[in-house]
Amino acid sequence: MTAPKKLFIKTYGCQMNVYDSERMSEALGGQGYVATDRPEDADMILLNTCHIRERAAEKVYSELGRYRVLKEAKPDLKIGVAGCVAQAEGAEIMRRQPLVDLVVGPQSYHRLPQMEAQIRTGVRAIDTDFPEEDKFEALTARPKARRAPAAFLTVQEGCDKFCAFCVVPYTRGAEVSRPPERILSEARDLVDRGVRDLTLLGQNVNAYHGAGAGGDWTLARLIWALNDIDGLERIRFTTSHPNDMSDDLIEAHASCPKLMPYLHLPVQSGSDRILKRMNRSHTAESYLRLIERLRAARPDILMSGDFIVGFPEETEADFQATLDLIEAVGYGYAYTFKYSTRPGTPAAERVQVDEAVKDERLQRLQALITRQQQAVQQTMVGRDLTVLFEKPGRFAGQMGGKSEYLHAVHVHAPEAQPGDLARVRITESVRNSLAGVLI
Ligand code: 5AD
Ligand code: SF4
Repeated sequence: MTAPKKLFIKTYGCQMNVYDSERMSEALGGQGYVATDRPEDADMILLNTCHIRERAAEKVYSELGRYRVLKEAKPDLKIGVAGCVAQAEGAEIMRRQPLVDLVVGPQSYHRLPQMEAQIRTGVRAIDTDFPEEDKFEALTARPKARRAPAAFLTVQEGCDKFCAFCVVPYTRGAEVSRPPERILSEARDLVDRGVRDLTLLGQNVNAYHGAGAGGDWTLARLIWALNDIDGLERIRFTTSHPNDMSDDLIEAHASCPKLMPYLHLPVQSGSDRILKRMNRSHTAESYLRLIERLRAARPDILMSGDFIVGFPEETEADFQATLDLIEAVGYGYAYTFKYSTRPGTPAAERVQVDEAVKDERLQRLQALITRQQQAVQQTMVGRDLTVLFEKPGRFAGQMGGKSEYLHAVHVHAPEAQPGDLARVRITESVRNSLAGVLI
C-alpha cells in the first residue's frame, strides 16, 4: 500500500468557507489524501479564499509566493486556489502565478477529484462554472469520521439582493436552496457522528425556500423538522437579511425548543440615506421594529450584527445615526468593517470617503461595540445557563463550551466529555469568555 498523500487547506473568510473546506477535504479523501496542518508536509496545498474585503487577491499572491520554496523542494507538490477570489480572478491567477496548478470556484468543488487527477498528469485545471448538477449531492456522500459537537451545514447559497457594496452575488452566484430531505439526512448523519449543535449556513439563509414534500419549505419549517431529530440539541442559522425575517421564523424563536436565543441580523448602517444608497431596501426604523417583534417573541434573544463605516458619501450625521441605532439595539456581538471598494460593484464607482475619516469612525464604532458586548456579557454573571461542552480547557479538569447565547464558557468539570450538556452558574465575565461552576 502506498502512503497516503497529504492535503493542507488554508481557509479564509466566512463560516461557509469552513464548511466548504471540510467538504473539499472529504472529496479529496476519496483520492487518497489525508489532512495535515503543516504546509511543508503537504502533497497538495489548497487556499480557500475570501473576496469580501480589500487586498484579498494580494493576500493570495503573497501566500502563494511563500509556497514557492516548498514547490522547489518538492516538484510534485500541487497548489490550488479555491473560494471567491478563485471565482472572481481565476484566469488572472493562472496567468500571473505559474506555481498554481488548479483554480476552482465555489460552485465546482464536486469536480475536484477529476481536477486532481488531471493536474497529476501535469495539465493545469481551472473551473469557475456555475454548473447545473447538484454539488452537495456529490460532496456529502463521503466517509464517515467522528465529528466535533458543533458543526456547520450549508442549506442555501448565493444571493439575489445585490447590496451596492457586496461581491457575494457575483462570486457565489444566484440564490439556491438545497432540498429539505437532503439537509435532514445530512443533519441526521452529522448527529450519528457526534454533532449536537448545528449552525445552518447561507449567505441569505432566512430566504431559504427548498423544494420538498408539499411544496417549498421555509427556513422555519426546516428548523421545526430538525427540531425532531433525537440527539440534536441546538440549532442556529446565519446570515439573515432583515427583509426575509418572516412571521413563521419569528414564531419559531418563540416556541421551537432547540432554536437558540441568538440571531445574527446585519443592518450595515443606521442612516436611511445610506441604507438607500446601499440598496438594502429597509430602513433603520423598520429594522428596529423587527427587533421589537423578535424580542416580544423571545425576550432574551441576543442580537448580533454587521456594520460598515465609510460607505461612499457617509457623513458624520449618517455615522452618528449608526451609533444611535447600536445604542438602541444593545448588541451581544457586532462585527465592524471599513468600507472597501469591490471591483464590479455599484458603490465602487462612487465618491469615496477619506481613508483617515474611515479609520477614525471605525475606532469610535469599535469602542462603542466593545463596551456594549462587555455589558451584555456581564449580564450573564449570576445566571444559570446550559453549556454544551466542546473541548478541554487550558487547565487540568477544565472544559470549554458554549452557552445558549454563544458565549464561550469555562468550567471545572473533570468528568465531562465533549458533547455533554451541563447546567452552569456563571460566576465571572473575563474579556472574551465566561467562567462558571457546575450546578
Ligand atoms: N466593504 C466592507 N465590508 C463589507 N461587507 C461586505 N462587503 C463589504 C465591503 N465591500 C461586510 C458586510 C457583510 C459582512 C459579511 O461583510 O457587513 O454583512
Ligand atoms: Fe452581500 Fe448579504 Fe447584501 Fe447579499 S444580502 S448582497 S450577501 S451583504
